[in-house]
Amino acid sequence: MSKKILVMPGDGIGPEIVAEARKVLDFLAAERGLDVVIDEAPIGGAGHDAAGHPLPEATLEKARAADALLLGAVGGPRYEKLERHLRPERGLLGIRAELELFANLRPAILYPQLAGASTLRAEVVAGLDVMIVRELTGGIYFGQPRGIETLADGQRKGFNTLVYTEAEIERIGRSAFETAAKRGGRLCSVDKANVLEVSELWREVMERLAPEYPDVELSHMYVDNAAMQLVRDPRQFDVIVTTNLFGDILSDAAAMLTGSIGMLPSASLNASGQGMYEPIHGSAPDIAGQGKANPLATVLSVAMMLRYSLSQSAMADAIEAAVGQVLDRGLRTPDIAAEGEATVGTAAMGDAVVEALAASD
Ligand code: IPM
Ligand code: MG
Repeated sequence: MSKKILVMPGDGIGPEIVAEARKVLDFLAAERGLDVVIDEAPIGGAGHDAAGHPLPEATLEKARAADALLLGAVGGPRYEKLERHLRPERGLLGIRAELELFANLRPAILYPQLAGASTLRAEVVAGLDVMIVRELTGGIYFGQPRGIETLADGQRKGFNTLVYTEAEIERIGRSAFETAAKRGGRLCSVDKANVLEVSELWREVMERLAPEYPDVELSHMYVDNAAMQLVRDPRQFDVIVTTNLFGDILSDAAAMLTGSIGMLPSASLNASGQGMYEPIHGSAPDIAGQGKANPLATVLSVAMMLRYSLSQSAMADAIEAAVGQVLDRGLRTPDIAAEGEATVGTAAMGDAVVEALAASD
């Protein structure tokens, strides 16, 4: 039976980069027998424009019915003045929560061709291959109570709640242990157990799970140290598991180690294997519509989709190889170009990936 894919371009550079990823999907469907039905729906600011809400009911309905979702990016200056519950980010957070996409896999891999694009010395990042497993539907992003209140003395107070149940910790822990077992067998759990009770419980649950995964070596690290270690010696890590907010921060840092945030895909999975796939970069309104955004993170997100939700790991491998080839050929969007190097635009990069794919087999 055909698998259903829902494509949600979103805002800013979202539509441009998603268009390139679609070229790859359409090629695989037309030429390689990938059996998919592809639909599109608005989300974020585009959702607000189309239906008055960042996560329109019709989009959510289609999302629930899809096997896999491809998202571009959400957000932009046009929407910053909207009330909080109508802002584009609420669409993204809403769909993560509604589909219970609790396990966010964010690989940071350095392509050898781009070693010179990292702000760190090449010998520190060469061969970098870290997987961050970020909890995505709990923690301080969703904890209640939250809000801004006015106190008796007239000043205002803002507050959020950091909360994790044992069940929430256990399920992200299991995803992380399983991920580590399939990779290098080393799992580093990042917390702030020297200060936060939630982290104490987090650490305890990770320890309790460890004996069930004898092939995985579990270690713990405080988040401040982890941030430092990531930029000091990032190759010490294999898999990192952490909370929603810590994962948000550490994954941006890890992304930059690879030279450009424009290269990194992500997968957000729920318990039934349904997944949403998106580049980890944002909507980059400053370059939107100029045809110079890097589509490779979105193309690589399609590879993750094929691997994790569509059981097509050979096609996923082929896409990743094709990306390697276009980099070998020296094609660079501005974000990954060294100083003075010639650059190509978004569409040319997407076309080159499809060309490389077509040349394989
Ligand atoms: C991310 C983004 C989102 C997050 C924003 C856009 C809500 O930064 O996916 O990392 O904080 O999760
Ligand atoms: Mg982020």
